[in-house]
Amino acid sequence: MPPAPDAVAETDMPAKAVISRVWTQYLKQYRSPLLLALICATVVVLATTLVTGWLAIAVNLLFHAKLDDNTRKLPQFFRDHPLIVVPGVIVIATLIRFAAQRGLTVSLNNIGNQMVGRIQSQLFSRLVRADLGRLQTAHSGEYLSSVLYDADLVREAASTGVVQYVQAALTVLGSLVIMFYWDWSMALAVLLIGPLIGAVMDRYLAATRRAAKGAMAETSSLSTAIMESLDGVKIIKISNRETAEEARVGSVIDRRQTHLIKGANARTMAAPATEMLTGLLIAGLLAYAGWRAQSGHMTSGALFSFMIALGTASQALRQLAGLQGTFSQGMTAGRRLFIALDIRPEIVDAPGAVALAPDFKAVTFEHASFAYGAAAVLRDVSFTAHAGETVALVGPSGSGKSTLLNLLPRFFDLSQGQIRFDDLDYRDVPLNSLRSRIALVTQDPFLFDDTIRANIAYGNEGASEAEIEQAARDAAAFDFITALPQGFDTRAGEAGSRLSGGQKQRIAIARAFLKNAPLLLLDEATSALDTQSEIQVQAALERLMKNRTTFVVAHRLSTVRHADQILVLSEGEIVERGTHDSLIRQGGLYARLAETQFESQARSA
Ligand SMILES: Nc1ncnc2c1ncn2[C@@H]1O[C@H](COP(=O)(O)OP(=O)(O)OP(=O)(O)O)[C@@H](O)[C@H]1O
Ligand SMILES: [Mg+2]
Repeated sequence: MPPAPDAVAETDMPAKAVISRVWTQYLKQYRSPLLLALICATVVVLATTLVTGWLAIAVNLLFHAKLDDNTRKLPQFFRDHPLIVVPGVIVIATLIRFAAQRGLTVSLNNIGNQMVGRIQSQLFSRLVRADLGRLQTAHSGEYLSSVLYDADLVREAASTGVVQYVQAALTVLGSLVIMFYWDWSMALAVLLIGPLIGAVMDRYLAATRRAAKGAMAETSSLSTAIMESLDGVKIIKISNRETAEEARVGSVIDRRQTHLIKGANARTMAAPATEMLTGLLIAGLLAYAGWRAQSGHMTSGALFSFMIALGTASQALRQLAGLQGTFSQGMTAGRRLFIALDIRPEIVDAPGAVALAPDFKAVTFEHASFAYGAAAVLRDVSFTAHAGETVALVGPSGSGKSTLLNLLPRFFDLSQGQIRFDDLDYRDVPLNSLRSRIALVTQDPFLFDDTIRANIAYGNEGASEAEIEQAARDAAAFDFITALPQGFDTRAGEAGSRLSGGQKQRIAIARAFLKNAPLLLLDEATSALDTQSEIQVQAALERLMKNRTTFVVAHRLSTVRHADQILVLSEGEIVERGTHDSLIRQGGLYARLAETQFESQARSA
């Protein structure tokens, strides 16, 4: 999925490993339907070969040509009624071929689509369980393209491709048998010249493979570019950048097109080149065959059948060559898939982890440090929050306030130090238990495109109607919800697009009320709401913070005033701590921040 850091690994995984994993993980369980598909494919080939071989006899029978040994061996009935027997055999063979082809297609479709579904579910499951740190390093478009396209490319190669390959190879074999049967010397000539044609095709196919790889990389860039344009549609419009975006996405489309065209050209060039060579071969064969026929060594029927077999074989050979492209695409996609599937989250339950008691007495940060990769964001943070207290985090933008909140639910793991619930290291608590004790209201609350009821109950699916309504009342959201045309059944729209900022916040607060967790993480919105919603949101938050241990990134004067402890962060370090009054008296960073940040609020309050 995330291509940049894995680019090396991608070329590292040997083809054999990819194939054996595809087999054991996705195909082995479909052994029987796969075998059925192969049997059907064989029947198709046998029927085709039978018809081709039969043509020699048919021509000889119909045109009363000189009967050769084979024709003479036929039952009398065959020789007496050629007009019934000749088409009859072909009709029967064709019907059998039709039935087998149908069986083949149906079983392949079943295997293939179930396989795609399984890969997609696995990919999504990795995605939704991945560490936040990893998700943030790759663009969502890459995940999307992997889930949507790579799975399908693997299917194409692994099920359809393999069976088609076997079918084409058998067809070549069957045709060769017929050719050798009717005239071995001519067949031998074909066999000697064949590899020459193969070499020509191979040159074009190498180009096809290169192009396929390039096209796949651009497919992922394309989905990234499109998703980005959709996410940023407002900023694109306000900046009048539609034309520029068209050009940007256009250039990705162009690059992808270039690869696709190169690939298609190489593929289609392979066909005329081989056709030309085949044409020359046929001319030579006809000259030779004419000579053989005149000297009585070959019947016209045998020549006819030989030529048809040659045509069938060369078509099957072309198909075999074309499948190389399918296989190499499937291989690239398979590597990308397995790399994505192999990424295991690092933030997992410790062995022997014990559930967190809801009535812990204190949360302690001890020399806690954190870095995004190499960039240190929090340094040596130590403090204790007693149960029921409110700890306000204040500091300039980018000082690490939101990061500190993200550590508590273990969205990220500390690089050094400890976070403890009483005496228990929080890494010795199962993630489920830890997260069930924490309610989170973020700076920009996220709503699912579902009903408001479902959004409030998200994570508390067992909540009763009355509990949901009470949570909405506590969050000062009940009135606006019931005023909506469908009340609690109103859909929030994609990412809550049909609600105002203040309404979304209150729904997020209602969600936190319903969760009723002892620990509350609150990232106050930096953007001021209008006074009316501000007062409502503020009152709701105060109710929510009551009797809970709260970590709040504070942008409001009223929040910090009520806090038991204020931690002032600057560049990832706690530079001051205390209550509002004591910090104001100190006259340091907090006092300066308070002056600029809270001044206007103080005036309007
Ligand atoms: N995913 C990330 N990868 C790398 N660096 C990050 C990431 N998220 C944040 N940072 C960096 O970490 C630092 C702290 O960011 P954080 O979001 O904690 O700031 P903040 O104090 O909450 O700021 P604000 O008040 O603007 O919300 C910033 O310098 C930011 O650039
Ligand atoms: Mg923040």
